[in-house]
Amino acid sequence: MRSSILSLVGGASTVLAAARGFNYGSQGNTLETFEAQFRTAQGLETTSGWNSARLYTMIQEGTANTVISAIPAAIATNTTLLLGLWASSDQAVFNNELTALRNAINQYGSAFSDLVVGISVGSEDLYRISPTGIAANSGYGQSPDVLVNYIGQVRSAISGTVLSSKPVGHVDTWNVYTNTSNAAVIAASDFLGLDEYPYYENTNENSVSNAATLFFNAYNAVEGSAQGKPIWITESGWPTTGPTENLAVPSTENAETYWKAVACELINRNIPTWWYILQDQATPSFGVVASGEQPKYDLSCPSVATSSSAAPTSSVASATMPTSAAASTTLNISNAVPSAGYVSSSGATSQAAASSTVTVFSTTLITVTNCGSTVSECTTTGMSTAISAKPSVTSAAASTVVPSGTPAASGCPADINGAYQYPHLIVPVDSSNPSKAYGTQYNGTISPKVSTIFNFDIPASYAGKTCSTVFLFPQLNQLETSSYSFNDQGGFTIAVLNGVADESTTYSNAPAVAKQIGSVDQLKRGSSHTLSMDACPAGTRVSFEVTSTGGLDLEFFQDYNPSPLGLYVRAC
Ligand SMILES: *[C@@H]1O[C@H](CO)[C@@H](O)[C@H](O)[C@H]1NC(C)=O
Ligand SMILES: *[C@@H]1O[C@H](CO)[C@@H](O)[C@H](O)[C@H]1NC(C)=O
Ligand SMILES: *[C@@H]1O[C@H](CO)[C@@H](O)[C@H](O)[C@H]1NC(C)=O
Ligand SMILES: *[C@@H]1O[C@H](CO)[C@@H](O)[C@H](O)[C@H]1NC(C)=O
Repeated sequence: MRSSILSLVGGASTVLAAARGFNYGSQGNTLETFEAQFRTAQGLETTSGWNSARLYTMIQEGTANTVISAIPAAIATNTTLLLGLWASSDQAVFNNELTALRNAINQYGSAFSDLVVGISVGSEDLYRISPTGIAANSGYGQSPDVLVNYIGQVRSAISGTVLSSKPVGHVDTWNVYTNTSNAAVIAASDFLGLDEYPYYENTNENSVSNAATLFFNAYNAVEGSAQGKPIWITESGWPTTGPTENLAVPSTENAETYWKAVACELINRNIPTWWYILQDQATPSFGVVASGEQPKYDLSCPSVATSSSAAPTSSVASATMPTSAAASTTLNISNAVPSAGYVSSSGATSQAAASSTVTVFSTTLITVTNCGSTVSECTTTGMSTAISAKPSVTSAAASTVVPSGTPAASGCPADINGAYQYPHLIVPVDSSNPSKAYGTQYNGTISPKVSTIFNFDIPASYAGKTCSTVFLFPQLNQLETSSYSFNDQGGFTIAVLNGVADESTTYSNAPAVAKQIGSVDQLKRGSSHTLSMDACPAGTRVSFEVTSTGGLDLEFFQDYNPSPLGLYVRAC
């Protein structure tokens, strides 16, 4: 009895709380000010556990290579550390970072190493040499090959020391991780630090109510390029004062909204997070505390039943995914100086609700074939059950996703975190077997010879809403009950047909294309796409045909659970 209790406790304790803290610049800081800030972070009212510090350099300001005082301050306050070595410099200057790192090991030994959660080589170096970074005049950066070399130098420096087992990685913005030119840096890293500020995404719909969507779009886009490396959030935040960036308005209220939508969701998913920033005197101001040392706003997070037991990957899967529009839009982040962004508490609620209600969704297997000949027969069975199972999600998403007054060119979000439909008929049509009727399938097949027609039954209750077809294509390792095979080539087009397909539909007798409504030029694993946008054809059954372009050869098991995969109709 006793041993089983112990083993239960042991099992539970394997879900360690992820590191949680703030960023700390070197400028103007001393041993005393580092220590005072670390204690402030640990004592924040309305929250707890903010006992980690991310640093940008190993070097104390104003010295050549003296160890930064944040290290003794961390030892004095039991603060864990994400170390940083500044890497946008030549070898001679970088050598000072290496010297300070070696000195820290020699001076502080295991009291130091016990606190180190990771070592970042560089911060936004690739962003600064990217077209966006150059346009924003963001300063010196570093090339991928030099970063890979510097990462190797850090690995050599810690080899055989108390830091030898610590992960070594890099910090940058999402759009550089998704650029294949930088893949070698990802390959050389043990973790990817992600700096992400919807506030600065001023070419996107970056109002605070959409900010969590932008944030997790970026997160998911990085995940798609991460080569399986863990993603740590190294900077994010929303300013309380400062200039408006497109639709992003700094205010205390919006900073709190963003905190609850993004910081709380990151905690909920147990993702290591270093917020920007505890305290500052900058414009825009991202500090969560003013001089009086108490938070400017409520930092408490709604309690979520599934919280620490939720596996990060499965909750990641339920997050909003990048639309093709978002993925192709560049960030406008001015350097490592924070500005930030995002989500409403209803967004956080819908995340939580979505992950906690996963089990009510059966696979589409069950309902793909059991609809009758009319829309209402379908909408009174499986489909309406799925939607009514999470009414708060539906209404929250519908009311937050497309604010009135914004251009609707982007359509509904590429996710199923709101009202959505899955297909009730999936029929391949095969140009090499033009008169063969394959009947309804669980799999969609899109290849140079075979297109697939998907029927959707749009409920009458969608009248007046916008409908988008969305295509969700997670990484294979995010899937548990479904799978796909893909040749990593080409893309596809989607058309609405001028009639409705059924089980007897063949290549020869299929309804003609009424209109091409969208396309993906280069389909990538770990991507999601909003393909079209239109008034919902409420109360009707619609057939969409998906056709391969550029040699794409894809077969997928259309499924929700978990990590939705395939074609859906999203209403918003
Ligand atoms: C330091 O903090 C950790 C949690 O991060 C705790 O487990 C440990 O007991 C603390 N050590 C001291 C000396 O307070
Ligand atoms: C990808 O990175 C390369 C090298 O920095 C750059 O030339 C290119 O413009 C980047 N592509 C995009 C889409 O930003
Ligand atoms: C980035 O934002 C700044 C400040 O709003 C603006 O002046 C600049 O033109 C923007 N740069 C790009 C490339 O959009
Ligand atoms: C559906 O596609 C998956 C992924 O390619 C494959 O493993 C599975 O065998 C297919 N199922 C059928 C019934 O063809």
